[in-house]
Amino acid sequence: MNHTVVILAAGLGTRMRSKHAKVLHRAGGLALVEQVVAAARTLAPYGRIVVVTGHQAELVEELLRPLGVGFARQEGQKGTGHALASCREVVPHDGLLTVLYGDTPLLTASTLGRLRDAQTDSDAAATLITTTLEDPTGYGRIILNEEGDVTAIVEEKAATPEQRKIKLINSGIYCFRAELLWKHIGEIVPNAASGEVYLTDMAEILALHGERVRPMHVEDATELLGINTRVELAHADGILRGRKNEELMLAGVTIERPETVTIDARVRAGTDTIIEPFARLLGATSIGEDCHIGAGSILENAIVGDGVRVLPYTLISDSRVEGEAQVGPFARLRMDAHVGHNARVGNFVELKKTHLGNGAKSQHLAYLGDAEIGEGTNIGAGTITCNYDGEKKHRTTIGARAFVGSNSTLVAPIEIGDGSYIGAGSVITEEVPAGTLALGRARQVVKSGWTKKPKKA
Ligand code: UD1
Ligand code: CA
Repeated sequence: MNHTVVILAAGLGTRMRSKHAKVLHRAGGLALVEQVVAAARTLAPYGRIVVVTGHQAELVEELLRPLGVGFARQEGQKGTGHALASCREVVPHDGLLTVLYGDTPLLTASTLGRLRDAQTDSDAAATLITTTLEDPTGYGRIILNEEGDVTAIVEEKAATPEQRKIKLINSGIYCFRAELLWKHIGEIVPNAASGEVYLTDMAEILALHGERVRPMHVEDATELLGINTRVELAHADGILRGRKNEELMLAGVTIERPETVTIDARVRAGTDTIIEPFARLLGATSIGEDCHIGAGSILENAIVGDGVRVLPYTLISDSRVEGEAQVGPFARLRMDAHVGHNARVGNFVELKKTHLGNGAKSQHLAYLGDAEIGEGTNIGAGTITCNYDGEKKHRTTIGARAFVGSNSTLVAPIEIGDGSYIGAGSVITEEVPAGTLALGRARQVVKSGWTKKPKKA
């Protein structure tokens, strides 16, 4: 059967007390709405997912457009029923239509699958997910008849003191027979108390037309948590991080003290990789097998090959490290740095837009920017590429198996040939041809007997 998923994400989220739309706040390394889209993907292909946008619509659409989902704009945030009605023209009116709220990032694929199956196997007009909460404050309460069918959902604001005692709540996840939804959605009238058009009123409307609305009970309420405040956001983030850690550990990754690490949803890591405490693996970071990621290291959009050792407190962003290489401790790779196979980058070395060839080494205290460094070359401690002349950036090219002495200053643009040597402490401003020795420093002067000269009083 045709299955369309609509995600409501147009609200501001006043309770977040934020300039940013609620669904753009992040948990588990993705925006809340991205988490919901990922869950929705188990019911329908991206082309069958429609996101209703309104508040900061451009930003929400920009974020999700690359996935290929569809959009509908809600003009004015007049409530969840009004939000769903605004996609009337862009979705099919047959088959099933599941509605999700953009602020429920903990939903799992298996629960959505169960919802679809429950609706498919029944004659009901809709099935909705319910759960029981010790403290149901803020949620819509579910009213059931003797057959256990839903006859109404009462919102907190509109509930009588008696109804407020009901602990069975509406999760905000519904699977409708699309035909009946669209036939009756126009019958929702603005709520007397708030003036909003509540989607939840559909339950009563369908029931009054003699249609059945079935509850699907979920025991563990955790995954239904709707994020309304930053406290709930932090709570959801913790749960998502825990799930990600578990997924990786079950796939063969060792995580030491998992409660201390931060691993984003899209991160991948190969078997027998060990992640030490307080590591942060962010964005689209991908780590190979048999790697060691040191304590306190932060990797963002980093591609790391097999057997790499990242020693503690290393920062790697938008960069690549090939297999068997070693980086850190306290190293920084950024903006397209590329460390070759079996190369070494040591403490307090920074690489920016620099390729360090296979087996090359820069072990201590260096800045290597806009440089190409050949295979097997050794960069001495304290080497600096002077890549910036105050206006423009310039490149440094160093050949293979060269030796750059400690504390060398390489003034770019500059070329240093294969197998050449640079004496320690040199300032190099001119090309160094292959196989030569370059010295760019004042010759040492030794004055014998100098200390024996009588000093004036
Ligand atoms: C809603 C339900 C409530 C349920 C709870 C579960 C309604 C009327 N109430 O309440 O029964 O227990 O979720 O978490 O549906 N949105 C729009 N346009 C709007 C208003 C909201 O797109 O005009 C979107 C929001 O961006 C949000 C979602 O709908 O993602 C839910 O809105 P929210 O205001 O958080 O509803 P709740 O008060 O939590
Ligand atoms: Ca909510």
